[in-house]
Formats: sequence, C-alpha cells, structure tokens
Amino acid sequence: MRRKLVAANWKMHGSRALTEQLLSALAARPPSCEVAVFPPFPYLAQALALAEGRLDIGAQDLSAHAQGAYTGEVSAAMLADLGVRRVLAGHSERRQYHHEDDLLITAKLERAFEQGLMPILCVGETLQQREHGTTEATLAAQLATPLRVLGERSALLTIAYEPVWAIGTGCTATAAQVQAAHAFIRSQLAARDAKLSKLIRVLYGGSVKAANAPELFAQPDVDGGLVGGAALDANEFLAICAAAR
Ligand code: PGA
Repeated sequence: MRRKLVAANWKMHGSRALTEQLLSALAARPPSCEVAVFPPFPYLAQALALAEGRLDIGAQDLSAHAQGAYTGEVSAAMLADLGVRRVLAGHSERRQYHHEDDLLITAKLERAFEQGLMPILCVGETLQQREHGTTEATLAAQLATPLRVLGERSALLTIAYEPVWAIGTGCTATAAQVQAAHAFIRSQLAARDAKLSKLIRVLYGGSVKAANAPELFAQPDVDGGLVGGAALDANEFLAICAAAR
C-alpha cells in the first residue's frame, strides 16, 4: 500500500512572514498523511527550522550541474547540506518559461539522486495536446528519457501528473480524467518493471482544493496531490491533507 503524500508548491509566492505563518500552522497540527512543503529558495532555511523535522522541506528546482561557474544556480549538494529532503523537477512552468527539456530534467534528477534528495518528476499535457488526442503520447515521451537513463534508481521517484490546462486555472481535471492518466502512467512504469508501477507514488496536481481533494484522492491510482494556490492558505491546505488517507 502506497502512503499518500500531499506536497505544497508555493511557486514564487511568500515572504518571511508567510513562511512563519504557514509552517507554524502545519507544525502545530501535523496532518496524518506525509506532507512536503516547497517554498522559494530564500525561505528554505527558515522553513527547515520551523518544520523541526515534522514535515519534509523541498526545493522547487535545482541545477543540472554539480558545481561550478553557473551564476544564479543552486546545486543539489547545497540543498542537501541545508537539510532539504526533496526537490521538484520538470514542473510545466519550468518546461514552458525556462525551456527545460527531458534531457535537462533527467540531468537534474541525476544530480538529486547523487545527493540523496527525493525528486518529484512533474509531467502533463497542454490543452492543445489533449484536444489533439496526444495526451498519452506526451506523457509517454516525458517519462521515457528519465526512466531509461535512471534505470533502477527510478524506483525512488515520485511522479506528479499535472495537466497544464488545469494548473492555476481553477479548471480541475475530472476524477475520471485523472484516474485514466494515472493508470496510463502506471502502465508505462510497469512496461519498464512491474515493481516500479507498484512502488512509485503518482500525485495529481492542477487546481486541487479542499472541495475536490476527497474525490481525486479516492481514485485508485492517485497517491496524493501537488498543490499550488490552495497551499498558500493554511486551513485550506490542512483540509486537503485531511482528505489524503
Ligand atoms: P495549482 O498549481 O494548484 O495552483 O493549480 C499546481 C502546481 O503547479 O503544482
């Protein structure tokens, strides 16, 4: 049985005050499911101190390079040194605005594993790809390079299915659409190795709220959520966590 995980992706939102407010609320009422919070880089140290090991703190991105003259980049080793446990890779906003491709994302996953960080690999189709009937081909392509290059290390991945058209739009995929995509992702994992499809958690992300979380999380292949906007409100986020049993 895979334990459910609910992850909060704050994106480029927050402040020292909001970090204090949200982390204090979560640490005071620790949810029963596994929780990971991904604040912006400048608030990681503060979040780690407030979480006191009761929640995992993760970074929203990392460099594809191990170290060196890469101005503005943050390495996996620096994150691990700070006490960070998790990292996001391949978020659609990184793919779209920073032109990250599957090879670069795979390099980031490799850097994460070298430092013992647990990555969440994000995949998902655009509205145009869904309308053209290429959702499954898109997901298969986004999974192919990481699974091939990582081989057995893939077992340590978490995957987040985030249809681009549902992110930050208030337009959630239906539970049936989510279950179908997750089942497809699991079939791709099984095609590599039956064990992978049983082990790997597949989270759903895209306008998850307290109101839709129970139905989404009840789907057999949904192992939790990656929550953006709704994670910036402690009560809403705690209610989402409560739906993950
Ligand atoms: P959203 O973002 O919940 O605001 O749609 C989810 C995400 O991008 O991870």
